[in-house]
Amino acid sequence: MRRFSRITGTGSYLPPRRVSNQDLAVELATRGVETSDDWIVERTGIRARHFAAPDVSSSDLGVEAARRALESAGVAAAEIDLIIVATSTPDMVFPSAACILQNKLGVAGCAAFDVQAVCSGFVYALTIADSMIKTGAANKALVIGAEVFSRILDFTDRTTCVLFGDGAGAVVLEGSETPGILASDLHADGKHVGILCVPGTVSGGKVLGDPLLKMDGQAVFKLAVGVLEDAARATLEKAGRTASDIDWLIPHQANIRIMQGTAKKLKLPFDKLVVTVDEHGNTSAASIPLALDTAVRSGKIRRGDTLMLEGVGGGFTWGAVLLDF
Ligand code: ACO
Repeated sequence: MRRFSRITGTGSYLPPRRVSNQDLAVELATRGVETSDDWIVERTGIRARHFAAPDVSSSDLGVEAARRALESAGVAAAEIDLIIVATSTPDMVFPSAACILQNKLGVAGCAAFDVQAVCSGFVYALTIADSMIKTGAANKALVIGAEVFSRILDFTDRTTCVLFGDGAGAVVLEGSETPGILASDLHADGKHVGILCVPGTVSGGKVLGDPLLKMDGQAVFKLAVGVLEDAARATLEKAGRTASDIDWLIPHQANIRIMQGTAKKLKLPFDKLVVTVDEHGNTSAASIPLALDTAVRSGKIRRGDTLMLEGVGGGFTWGAVLLDF
């Protein structure tokens, strides 16, 4: 019998400190940086983001999201045999945030590793977990996106620091006789490294290069809309479905204009878009599972709905996962 994987539980967690555009504008003004709620809302759709306290790490946010996903799936942490954390802001150089999170969950023994594909990290991680479940290498997986992007923002660069936030989202993915995940499609093109990167590294006990986020916003914008359409179409084709089968489109929450541009290209009405970028900002690898859990808990997404998840980000990386929820 063919083996599939399906999402049996979702969870998410936002650090308590909510920073509205007005709050941020006031904070930035003290550094001589000028911005406004109007500019941020008009160009991005973002109204607020959450920032973690300085001593809170990605694994701290991720473990809260994981606990909520386990609870909603009715699965005990000890039953999990695979933990994948998608993050670009891990707690330390090594070990992985996944190993640290595993210990915080109070379990040991199962495979645990991080996936680094920036804002596409969650669709990459979900595809890896799905593949491992299909081959029998795992049966109950926790797939988590967790980020503290506030740590790598340059708060003197208004073109980037207003866009990002911190948070985590998680799903429990279990082996199943019926899908579940229908198809996925992952890509990368390393020639675009320079348009979105954190170029610094650690060497000889020092930070070499600039450890803060750099972005060419317009180049990212153009590339993102095109590849998100391509990935969605390729995934639908692999699954033998069409765009009209999609109940909910959950793109990476970077910018409302990128999300609406993608929906338009797929000829989907905007009311099929799950939008949380207004309240979360761009939380990179956490944005898709955060949006998914928010829509599930609000009653918008129901069991049986067909979902298209789409990620795009630094690398450049992009990809999509189509699933029956
Ligand atoms: N507040 C006020 N003014 C600002 C701000 C700000 N925060 N940021 C830039 N400006 C000014 C600029 O200085 C410029 O002023 P000038 O005309 O006097 O020179 C003006 O606004 C226009 O700047 P642009 O960079 O041309 O603005 P644009 O319309 O391209 O919007 C934005 C910028 C929002 C970043 C857009 O390019 C974008 O959304 N790009 C996509 C990038 C993105 O979402 N990245 C997320 C990470 S990547 C990912 O997750 C896929």
